[in-house]
Amino acid sequence: ARAAGKSKVGFSQCTTLEPWRVQFNKDIQAEAKNHPDIDLIITDGQDKTQKQVADCDNLIVQQVNVLLISPKESAGLTGVVEKAIDAKIPVIVLDRNVDTKRITQFIGGDNVAIGKAAGEHAVKLLGGPGKAAGNVVEIWGGMGTQPAHDRHDGFHAFTDKEPGIKNLLNNQSGDWKQDKAYDIMTTALRNNEKIDMVYGHNDPMAYGAYLAAKDAGRDKDIRFIIGIDGLPDEGVTWVSKGQLTATFLYATPGAEGLRQAAKLLKGEKLEPVITLPTMLITKENASEILKKNG
Ligand code: FRU
Repeated sequence: ARAAGKSKVGFSQCTTLEPWRVQFNKDIQAEAKNHPDIDLIITDGQDKTQKQVADCDNLIVQQVNVLLISPKESAGLTGVVEKAIDAKIPVIVLDRNVDTKRITQFIGGDNVAIGKAAGEHAVKLLGGPGKAAGNVVEIWGGMGTQPAHDRHDGFHAFTDKEPGIKNLLNNQSGDWKQDKAYDIMTTALRNNEKIDMVYGHNDPMAYGAYLAAKDAGRDKDIRFIIGIDGLPDEGVTWVSKGQLTATFLYATPGAEGLRQAAKLLKGEKLEPVITLPTMLITKENASEILKKNG
């Protein structure tokens, strides 16, 4: 039974198998403490589309007042998002978008902009515009996700202008996972004598590539490894240790997501898109960031 005056907010998280998702859930739970009038129900899709669809169906049956969802992938979750909207439950989508314009709001980072920043930085590291040269291993996130495509497109908007930059792999996906990236990198090392740079679509995969290079005794040859996420205990720490060259902050939309749900419940109108800021993290600022995070 629902306590009088309390609203139910459902949050369908796609997985808790990745550190960024664990932080995301911590962020939304911490924000929930500021909203005693909201009952927050969090589900875990266990990195399976079908499980996440079932979770959303369940939240619809429970008649949540707002549905927050961070989808595993776009295509497979669009239907259930529309089902919620048909049932008059407003939906706020977080981080990975779905393929419908009917949602109330999208909150996430600008992955094209982050990809472009990574591409621009890569060109600079490899010698500068017009002079950049090197062999690049790019490890994709999940192929069915918008962030992976955006991070790829943004990066190539800069690197494809450089005739000296060579892409060694043909769209290989590590599905955001460290162990899969380790395997991709191990094969890439076997097939290529010279690898100058790795671009991982997230930090766990960039770190997986670093570990593969280290185990192959070639970590010193790989001059630059770039990731994305910038969690203090992960990317920022790896950058400060020199294991990664750079990462880009990709803040979780957990706290903002719940704040926006609370606004909606008060009858306020939401902006269609909220874009979370990013920043470049290198050895120059990594220790300062770690200090601030205590
Ligand atoms: C976690 C994650 C992050 C990445 C984001 C992209 O599941 O893979 O590492 O930045 O999802 O959607």
